[in-house]
Amino acid sequence: MSTYSRETEGLALVHKFADQVKGRTCKAHLPTSPNILPRLPILIYLVLLTGPSPGGIGAETLISLAAESPAQLILVGRSREKAQATIDAIKVVNASVATKFIEADLTSLASVRKAAQSILADPEIPRIDVVINNAAVMATPFELTPDGIELQLAASHLGHFLLTNMILPKVLAAAAAGPGGARLVLLTSSGHRYSGVRFSDPNFAEPGSYTPYDAYGQAKSAVILYAVALNRRLALRGARGVRAYAVHPGSVQTNLQSHVMKLAPEELATMMDEVSMRVMGMPLAETRRQSPWLTLQQGCATTLRAALDPDLVKQEGVYLQDCELTTDTKLVKEWATDPELAEKLWTLSEELVGEKFDI
Ligand SMILES: NC(=O)c1ccc[n+]([C@@H]2O[C@H](COP(=O)([O-])OP(=O)(O)OC[C@H]3O[C@@H](n4cnc5c(N)ncnc54)[C@H](OP(=O)(O)O)[C@@H]3O)[C@@H](O)[C@H]2O)c1
Repeated sequence: MSTYSRETEGLALVHKFADQVKGRTCKAHLPTSPNILPRLPILIYLVLLTGPSPGGIGAETLISLAAESPAQLILVGRSREKAQATIDAIKVVNASVATKFIEADLTSLASVRKAAQSILADPEIPRIDVVINNAAVMATPFELTPDGIELQLAASHLGHFLLTNMILPKVLAAAAAGPGGARLVLLTSSGHRYSGVRFSDPNFAEPGSYTPYDAYGQAKSAVILYAVALNRRLALRGARGVRAYAVHPGSVQTNLQSHVMKLAPEELATMMDEVSMRVMGMPLAETRRQSPWLTLQQGCATTLRAALDPDLVKQEGVYLQDCELTTDTKLVKEWATDPELAEKLWTLSEELVGEKFDI
């Protein structure tokens, strides 16, 4: 029987995989002469996470990681003030962990490019062991970004596509330098089951086509397809130590629900019942009975297993939920894992960000 479940807590996993978090040795820093005995291993373990605002799954992920002394946590967000509150909470857990804030609005390609360039140029970031693409918005009213991209697709997928592809050299440096490899953890949602990627009209130009959950479903399906496309490319270039996973964290009450909570109670109930039927195959009350809200600690556990468990690579699959990898097509739709659609998504994403990536 598996030791993991939807009740698994993030902190328990950080302690379980403590060796992954601290004490990694970077080959480049080891003495080259056989006459010089290796000194203490140099602690190098850098995690970069987007969307670190307090009260969210990302903040809880970082605060949990801090317990086992990673060398540095890099917080990528659009608000320095919110990130600072999370940094303060990290320091309460472990004052020795170095932190760095990098400003990026994922719905602005210019802002993402600027952030990626500052990460690439920063000598204090020699490598990135784990990238956690956590930021998103959910079920927002229709909006196009200044780049003309539908908002939820931009926040969940395209901003991360651009950021991750640009900083990949530092992730590859981590995989090359140490035995532990590197991980790309992309936050998706069971909501991907609501809709696949609308390849012919990703920005909902067709009048009347937009619904808040069609856009969320598209964005979260794109996240999984991006993980599939990344893994194919990384394997082809022989970077076997780097693996991408797409994670559904479970249902947790956070600021993510703020847009739907603005709806009138009756409208909200009707909409959520419809969403629950399409995503879970049952009305909302039954979904909540079978799967009550998770705590933040439970909500960050699946991300942390994807980031830390070295044995995951022995199993098949790209999608995790309830702390387990699964290829069950009832849980992860084929429209989100099909390799041909993954390539189509890669091409579409390159078109939308206006840049090709040789990965
Ligand atoms: N909570 C759930 O039940 C649930 C279920 C399934 C999947 N997920 C996924 O889990 C991840 C974390 O969600 P959460 O529940 O922790 O939500 P959250 O508390 O609302 O956190 C989302 C984070 O994303 C950031 N963000 C949003 N738009 C951004 C932008 N344009 N540029 C930069 N950062 C931006 C937010 O920053 P601001 O504070 O500045 O807005 C915040 O830090 C998301 O990918 C979500 O889709 C959550």
